[in-house]
Parts: sequence; C-alpha cells; structure tokens
Amino acid sequence: MNITLKCAPVEQQSSHCLIVGVFEKRQPGPHAQALDKASGGVLQRILKQGDMDGKPGQTLMLHQLSGIKAERVLLVGCGKASEFDEKQYSKALSNAITAVNDSGARDAACYLTDLEVKDRSKAWNVRRAAELTHQALYRYQQTFSKKEKPDYPLGKLQLCVDDKALKSARIGLKIGEAIGKGASFTRELGNLPGNVCTPTYLANQAGKQLKGYDNMKVRVLNQKSIEELKMGAFLSVAKGSRQPPKLIVIEYQGTQKETRPYALIGKGVTFDAGGISIKPASAMDEMKYDMGGAAGVLGTMQAIGELQPPINVVAIIPACENLPDGNANKPGDVVTSMSGQTIEILNTDAEGRLILCDALTYSERFKPRSVIDTATLTGACIVALGNHPCGLLSNDQPLAEALLAAGQTSQDRAWQLPLWDEYQDQLKSNFADMANIGGREAGTITAACFLSRFTKKLKWAHLDIAGTAWKSGADKGSTGRPVPILTQYLLDQCGKKYQL
Ligand code: BES
Ligand code: MN
Ligand code: ZN
Repeated sequence: MNITLKCAPVEQQSSHCLIVGVFEKRQPGPHAQALDKASGGVLQRILKQGDMDGKPGQTLMLHQLSGIKAERVLLVGCGKASEFDEKQYSKALSNAITAVNDSGARDAACYLTDLEVKDRSKAWNVRRAAELTHQALYRYQQTFSKKEKPDYPLGKLQLCVDDKALKSARIGLKIGEAIGKGASFTRELGNLPGNVCTPTYLANQAGKQLKGYDNMKVRVLNQKSIEELKMGAFLSVAKGSRQPPKLIVIEYQGTQKETRPYALIGKGVTFDAGGISIKPASAMDEMKYDMGGAAGVLGTMQAIGELQPPINVVAIIPACENLPDGNANKPGDVVTSMSGQTIEILNTDAEGRLILCDALTYSERFKPRSVIDTATLTGACIVALGNHPCGLLSNDQPLAEALLAAGQTSQDRAWQLPLWDEYQDQLKSNFADMANIGGREAGTITAACFLSRFTKKLKWAHLDIAGTAWKSGADKGSTGRPVPILTQYLLDQCGKKYQL
C-alpha cells in the first residue's frame, strides 16, 4: 500500500474514489458540500431520499456523479458533528478503508483526514489514518493452502489535508506507517500456530525483519549462554519442552553509544499448555498468543527501525514453550533465579513471571533509563479490565504517567492498578524466598508484585496485555497491541520532534 499526502480541493480530484464524511442527520461535511455543489445538488438529493443519515458505521458508495471527475464517491457516516472525537473518527476511517478496498477502486483520496477532530491536530488525523489503513488491510494468509489475491486491490491512498497542516502531517504519516507496519508484523507472529512459531522461529524472524534497519543489532543467545547467565527460573520453564529456549537481544543505537537506553522486555511463551499444572482443553489453542509481549516488542522495534529516533533502545525477549513433560517443573519445585533469589513454583502455569524475572535482572547490565515489560501474564487482568485497556503497574509514578499519556495519544490505552506493599504478603513461601503465585485474589497485582522483587534497581513498568493482545470468537486474531503505546512512549522521550 502506497500512502501519500495530498493537498487539493476535493472537486478537482480525479481519483477512483473520493472519501468524504457525512454527519448526523444528513449533514454533509465540508468536502461532501463541495462535491454537492460541483454536482449540482445530487448529493443533497440522495441524502434527502433517506439512503444515508450519517450514523457512525454507515457507508454509501455513489458511482459516476455528474460534474465530478472521480469515478466513485464514498459517503462515510461520522455520527453527530458535535461529538466528532478520536473514537468516531477512527471508526469512520476504518469503515471507509474496508468499503473502498471491497469496491474495486485501485486508488482513493481520503478527505476524512481534513475534518476537525476534537482536541486533535490534522497531523494526528493523518497518523491515525495511516495506522488504521494498515490495520484494515492486514490479512492472515500464511497457513492457508490457497492465498487470497484480490483482482482489484487498493494500491494507493492519498490522505488529504490543507496546506497549513502539510508539514506536520508528513511526520504524522511517517509515525502512522511505522506503527501500522510494526503492528502488522506483531499480528502475523501472534497468529502463527505454535508448531510454526517456536522460540527458534521467533529468533529467526527477529533477525530477518530487523537486521536490515540502520543502527539495529540482533543477537540470539542459545541454551548454553542462558545457562552461563544462570537464568534458573527461565530455564526451569523451558526444560519441559523439546524446543530449545532463546534469549533474543536487540540493540538499537539512535544516539551516542554512552547514552543510557530504554529497555523493553516481552514475554515469549510460544505455547502455554500450563505445564504439569495443565490448563483445561477449551480455548487452549489461544495460548499460542502467549508470545504476544515478545511480538509486541518486535513490532515496536520495527517501528523504531523505520523512524530512527535519536534514542537508544534495548529489547530483551525470553522465548520458550510451557509444556508438561517428564522433565518439566513440578509444583513444589524450588528454582534459583539469575538474581540469586529462590522461587517455589506452586503452579507451573504461572510461568510468565519466571521467564520475565530473569530477563529483568539481565536488563540491569544496560543501565536502562526505564524498563517496560509487556506480557500476556494473567487471566485475572481480563477479569479486572476486560479487553479495552492493558493493565499497568509500576514502581515509578512518572513512568506510569508517561505510559498512560502515551496510551491516550496512540489510542492504545492502559489503566493503572496499585502495586502496594500489602499485596506482597500473598507471595510468602515456607520453602523459598517467594512463591510464584499469590492466591485467587488480585492475581494481576500479585504477578506484578512478584516481578517487582527483581526491579529494585530499575525504573520499571509492567503492561499486562492478556486482554488486549488478541481477540477471541468469530474474528479471533492478534490485534497488534501494544505496539502503538510502546512506540509512542519511546517517541515521547525525543522532545518535540515527534509531537503532533
Ligand atoms: N498466559 C497465561 C495468562 C493468560 C490466560 C492470558 C488466559 C490470557 C488468557 C499465564 O501464563 C497463566 O497461565 N497465568 C495464570 C496464573 C495463575 C496460575 C496464578 C492464570 O492467569 O490463570
Ligand atoms: Mn501460564
Ligand atoms: Zn502464559
């Protein structure tokens, strides 16, 4: 998909399809009004007939309007004009792209980007449009015998804004495309089945996708190196599987070498059967998504590779499977983490924290400015927050607030939960420094409490993406989250450069 910026009056455009907004009730937006005028009032007549009243979600394709050069005009319902905010805008835009893509038009000019969205700039509109276009056009294909090949694919999209906005819109377009592409990479990795996307495959893909970018180095540590690092907690999970574990380390250097990096850590359990504390069969297939944190970090690194911001970033991904086996962890086993702290494994299904704790300790050697780990860590997070925000817990309030803000800007929101000392008591063990589970209550918080014991020297935040990394049901599939919030957080560390 080739996305470009354009600044031209709508009635002079000769595209296969013009995309313009209509508000409730039957109120043409400014570009629809211009087309109405050029066509001698056809548009108003169509609206009056009742074909479309501007409700969110509506689209109406018109063909060969007299007086208009473009072959098609797509009217897109934008809801109430007085309530046109980022949510309504995003919905209208996604619907529009889907409708144009289904129409047979090879190229389109979108004027929704030139509408006034509450509290957002035109550059932000462009950014969001580019991101949502990638999102709407993504198709999972890899494991079907026949690949879907549309006869008339939408190949070109012009995003239209006025010339005042053009300069900042260029940056918006770059960011939107980078996040869109990064999220598609994340989705593809997530959707791949566990028998394809193994720890080794994940490591190979990291190399293949990222090595080509300037200033990016990918290293993969194998079992032996992980043993040398004494990552006893990580290794204990991996030993229940025939697939060898991998520790993927990616370093992006966008500024002087000595500058302290931002660290990202992603849980890369490529399949989580629960281990000896085995999960029930229903929906267990969805545990192929248990590498969603890893995939999100890789997608973010791709976005960073595209944008080349002037910061340093290090990504650390512990990758393994969690399976039942003669050699697997058993409930009651005690392991020693890289930090030296011992852990009693009371439930082998609480494996994410076991691999993350060693990655957190490993991150210390980079002296990071901040560390953000992201993981499909707890079912309890879905119970607490549902599928809308990621769960956020942190030992540093300014970092938490920076992430909350990045979530708002990128529309990939997080919600903070308390990380109070009181909850730490739930992790008490009679046989080790701590247990790996904290009982039924506050499962997301006690998981983060566990991690917090490995972050004493770090400014750290944890994003639980159990509810947001993928969708269940009829449109089961990866969402590409948390690429937008992570990328936004990193861009926000670069001063004014990427502010829209
Ligand atoms: N990967 C799961 C968490 C999960 C479950 C995410 C369902 C999304 C949907 C994690 O490894 C896990 O099994 N967590 C346990 C922890 C419990 C044993 C303390 C859970 O949430 O049940
Ligand atoms: Mn588990
Ligand atoms: Zn898991």
